[in-house]
Amino acid sequence: MTSATTASARACANIALVKYWGKRSGPGNLPAEGSLSLTLAALVTETTVTFDPALAVDELVLDGEPANAVRTTEFLELVRSLGGSQARARVVTHNKFPTASGLASSASGFAALAVAATRAAGVTIDPRALTRLARKGSGSAARSIFGGFVRMHAGDRDEDAFAEPITSPLLDRVRMVIAIVGGGAPKLHGSRDAMDHTAETSPLYQAWLATVPPDLATAEAALAAGDLEQLGTVAEANALAMHATTMAARPAVIYWQPATLALLAAVRTLRGNGRAAWATIDGGPHVKVLTNVEDADHVARALAGVEGVTATTVSMPGAGAEVIS
Ligand code: DP6
Repeated sequence: MTSATTASARACANIALVKYWGKRSGPGNLPAEGSLSLTLAALVTETTVTFDPALAVDELVLDGEPANAVRTTEFLELVRSLGGSQARARVVTHNKFPTASGLASSASGFAALAVAATRAAGVTIDPRALTRLARKGSGSAARSIFGGFVRMHAGDRDEDAFAEPITSPLLDRVRMVIAIVGGGAPKLHGSRDAMDHTAETSPLYQAWLATVPPDLATAEAALAAGDLEQLGTVAEANALAMHATTMAARPAVIYWQPATLALLAAVRTLRGNGRAAWATIDGGPHVKVLTNVEDADHVARALAGVEGVTATTVSMPGAGAEVIS
């Protein structure tokens, strides 16, 4: 019997500026459309994977507690199918997120797992193939393989649906302020089920899908030109379109709480006062605000004063996923 092999990796979560919300039918977790995100230094997951021939089943320890390993095992089966270690694995993962925020960690989680598991299994894989592997764990995880601004591509074939980094003069200037609402209560609707339910029942879903390609083109042009206002404007509009589509599902999926709306109003007021501030919202009540290095602290202070906000964090762009030992 061969001995155990181990590797650890670190990955940062990312926040989409043009959202992924809907899949193609069939296997492989293929997104219906592309997306575009910013990887964030403040939201880090560290994961150690040990393939151990002495184990009878895969095990997952999440933030110190044994956890359900069903999605982890599904993912490790993909890694084992690449021809490295065939042993079961112990996965120990830790989210270094600000407070108990309830922020989605599947992006950083599956990106860190993809990097640690392939390394521990002895599988050689190039970065683009790594993004496709991470996508099969969670669509947004493909984007966390890279740092900074990242573009996810869509297509009917596995090889077409990969992520790649986008260079931009904005990278040194952008910051994201994360405003946590309601202390991070557990999510009412997981993204995976909610996006499927939206695709099946929302009368606005086709219009949402038609919105994404022009929003991606606008966002990419803004990144190329270094135009933060254009990027922020399309990001806020895109997020609101996603949420409108989701609220129109039957029955409705409503992620917002009163503080979410109050934050959107505060962001508009900040803009009215000449500050750089554009909001985006994912599958929860929290609001993330795209801003610049000059205005980040002012924006964070203003949002901390909104009733129902329990914490704020200013984040710089983060690095891509990497092996740490
Ligand atoms: C609202 O990547 O969690 O954050 O592929 O089913 O695991 P699965 O979905 P997931 O969805 C992320 C949805 C989002 C928008 C985004 O990150 O683009």
